[in-house]
Amino acid sequence: MIKTFENYSFDDIQIPNSIDIETIKTTAFINKKENLILYGPVGTGKTHLATAIGVEACSRAKKVKFYRTAALVNQLLETKRSGELKKFLKQLENLDLLICDEWGYIPLEKEGS
Ligand SMILES: Nc1ncnc2c1ncn2[C@@H]1O[C@H](COP(=O)(O)OP(=O)(O)OP(=O)(O)O)[C@@H](O)[C@H]1O
Ligand SMILES: [Mg+2]
Repeated sequence: MIKTFENYSFDDIQIPNSIDIETIKTTAFINKKENLILYGPVGTGKTHLATAIGVEACSRAKKVKFYRTAALVNQLLETKRSGELKKFLKQLENLDLLICDEWGYIPLEKEGS
């Protein structure tokens, strides 16, 4: 589902001193080649924030992909099997922003990891 910053509340979100809300909302961390890790209990807005960042980055002409991590791993395994892993990795490398949602929800096998 598409979500934006419009109705996102940062009130209960803790942000480390090394980054500020503007850097997140303007997606400036992408230009700095920094990673953002969103963590917290169920329903605390991780997917909403990740989506809002992705939508904002798209509107700034950035190349973005959003995956549930398990789906990304499946695609990596599938492309490896069909001999297209290199091509798929190249597509990922060309992205400005790769969003991996639901990281750590399902255990991954060694090869998938
Ligand atoms: N800070 C927030 N501001 C506005 N809406 C929020 C906020 N946090 C959560 N919500 C809303 O609550 C619902 C659940 O949030 P979301 O799906 O982003 O949680 P989550 O952290 O990804 O949960 P899960 O760990 O289950 O994946 C969504 O409809 C989302 O829009
Ligand atoms: Mg979520």
